[in-house]
Parts: sequence; structure tokens; C-alpha cells
Amino acid sequence: MIQVSKPFIGTSELNEIEKVFHSGWLGMGAWVKTFEDKICSYIGAIECIATNTGTNALHLALDILDLKPDDEVIVPSLTFIATIQAIIQAGGTPVFCDAEPTTLNISIEDLKSKITAKTKALVPVHYRGLPCNMEELLSLSNKYNFTVVEDAAHAFSSKYRSYDGSFAPIGSFGHLTCFSFDPIKVITCGEGGAVCTNNSEWAERIRKKRILGIDKDTWSRYKNERSWFYDVVERGYRHHMSNVNAAIGCKQLEQIETFILRRNEICKKYDQAFSSDIFKNKIMTLYSDYNQMATFTYIVRVLNNNRFELMNFLNSQGISTGVHYIPCHTQTICKNFRSENLITTNNISDEILTLPLHFGLSDQDVNFIIQSLKDYY
Ligand SMILES: Cc1ncc(COP(=O)(O)O)c(C=O)c1O
Repeated sequence: MIQVSKPFIGTSELNEIEKVFHSGWLGMGAWVKTFEDKICSYIGAIECIATNTGTNALHLALDILDLKPDDEVIVPSLTFIATIQAIIQAGGTPVFCDAEPTTLNISIEDLKSKITAKTKALVPVHYRGLPCNMEELLSLSNKYNFTVVEDAAHAFSSKYRSYDGSFAPIGSFGHLTCFSFDPIKVITCGEGGAVCTNNSEWAERIRKKRILGIDKDTWSRYKNERSWFYDVVERGYRHHMSNVNAAIGCKQLEQIETFILRRNEICKKYDQAFSSDIFKNKIMTLYSDYNQMATFTYIVRVLNNNRFELMNFLNSQGISTGVHYIPCHTQTICKNFRSENLITTNNISDEILTLPLHFGLSDQDVNFIIQSLKDYY
């Protein structure tokens, strides 16, 4: 079976884990600090706080906003339910926003119509790894005084192209940016996440909340020590990363450029194949810009109402596919949240299809997938 996504891990990760074992310090410690420092220098952020999942990175970033139940957090419906759960856990009320038809990133037009006096935060999702229009989003946040918590679970190492043509890594210039390093992301820690910010006060608060609100403890743990004295100053969680996960992440980070090059190369092969006549009015590709994207998923729109039939056919050929995502506003837990005018999201929800994309896919695999699609049509 060709998997839709798969981690690429090997002996360098195993050897690093062995070192963690020999150190006798499996929990949060020196490897976590090294991983955070490496992330800061790789993307050019001032602060990085590593967490045990991307969901909990989002939870921590939203938690420091001290949301009250009436406070609204605008979020695209086309995201993983983790984004919504993090907002709910942080005490906010999600308000669903539509997608822009060519990229499926958040629709700025719809966003403008959903901002109210209650809007306290916006959680844009850099869907597939394509950065949202950050200049527009940050300018709206200035104008209406809300915080932007980027869900960059898909976009570690993506680079935003600004209006002047310059590129800035996602996580280097926003308010609070949250990454995921779960098993299928461009790089993995096994499980893991991180919050990046240039605001040191926010970072300090997140650091404390990450480990049960305990003050003064983090820095000693980074030296693989545990102080017996601590002072608990506010509500906190057990959201920290472990040395074992950080060790995997450190080694994955060393390979990231090779991973991205190959992933984007595969995407270009798909793009080229789908531009041929045989797929006209059948498969619609999304807008991509591989100068900006460290592509996480390759998603197309399957026209003519036959997505499930196509998925079944590909499955019968040994090719697994996915759907990213069932729009969140249709989930039972979301039924009381505002979800008007989600026109594009509703239109594309039965069309989107995720094709296999991971570093281990060979050219032969990719050709076979494309040929199987041609065979179907
Ligand atoms: C858009 C989005 N947000 C948040 C998450 C949560 O990340 P994690 O699985 O690391 O908790 C994911 C994970 O796939 C995601 O795709």
C-alpha cells in the first residue's frame, strides 16, 4: 500500500535517542533546550517553547490571552479539529470563517465581515503549508486590536512572500506561531509542537504554563536537573516536550532541506500531470507557490461528484488517500458556534482529496499514482 503520509526516520534519530537513554534524563531537559535553540536560529524567531503536541502549543498560545466565554476567536472551518479544541480549551468561542477558493486559506473578505467588538483573536491556518496573507491579517489585527495566533501545523519552514517581494519564515514575524511535529509532518519529533514568538513576556508566561505553572523550574531542567523548590503562580498544564522527542526533532531538523526539496518536487510532478487534457474539468489543482511552501499535503478538488468512487478505485490499486478536512462547523461539538456564509467551504467539502506525499515516495510511486488516476478517468 502506498501511504498518504509517512515519517522518514532512521539510524541518526535512533543514535540520538540512545544518547538520551545514556544520559538517564528522559523528560524535559538539555535536548529540549537544544531543539528550541535550533528552531530559533533556523527560522529566525527570538523565542521558542517546545511542547508535547501541536494542539497543546495552540492551547498555550491561546491560554495566555485569558479569554472569557463571550470572547470570540475567528478560525477557518477548513482545519483539523485540534485547532477548534484548543480554542475551546482556552475558554474562547470559535467563530467560523470561509476559505478563499483558489488556495483554501482563510478568506479575508469573509473575515472582515466576522470581526466584532468581541473578537479577541484570530487563528489563521497556513493550509497545506501555503502562508496566509499575513500582511493583511496583521494589519486587521492592529486596526481591530486582536491577537493573531497562527496555526502553522502545516507550515514549519514555509516562507511568507511579502508585498515587497522579500521572504520571511513563518514564525519569525507574527504574534504567536504554533507548529506541530507529529508523525506525519515535514519533520517529526514522534509527537511534538512549539510556540514561536518575538514577545519575551508572552514566552515567559507560556514557559511557566507549559509545566504546571511552576516558576523557576524550567531553567534547571534544561540542565537535566530538578530543583526541589518552586513557586506556583498560576494555572498551568503538563504540555512540555521530552528529551526523547526533542532528540528525534534535532536530527530531523538537520535533514529538513532535503525533505522539503523532495516533497516540492513530487508536488510539481502532480501539478504538471494534472495540467494535461485528460484531467480537464475533472481534477482541479489548488494555487501553490513552492518558493513559499514547505508543502505538507498535496490536495486537489475532484469535480463531478465522484470523490469517494475515485478514493475507492485508488485504494483498490494499493494507493491510500485522505480528506483534509471534514469542515469543523459540521461537527456536533461546533453546532452552536457562528458558521454563516461558509460558501466555498461548503462547496469544496465533498471535492477535496489528499494524494500521497512524503519523502519516501519514489518517482516510480508517483508515476504509478498518476497513471492510476488516468486509468480511472
Ligand atoms: C491544522 C492543524 N492544526 C493543529 C494540529 C495539531 O497538531 P498535533 O497533532 O501535533 O497535536 C494539526 C495536526 O495535524 C493540524 O493539521
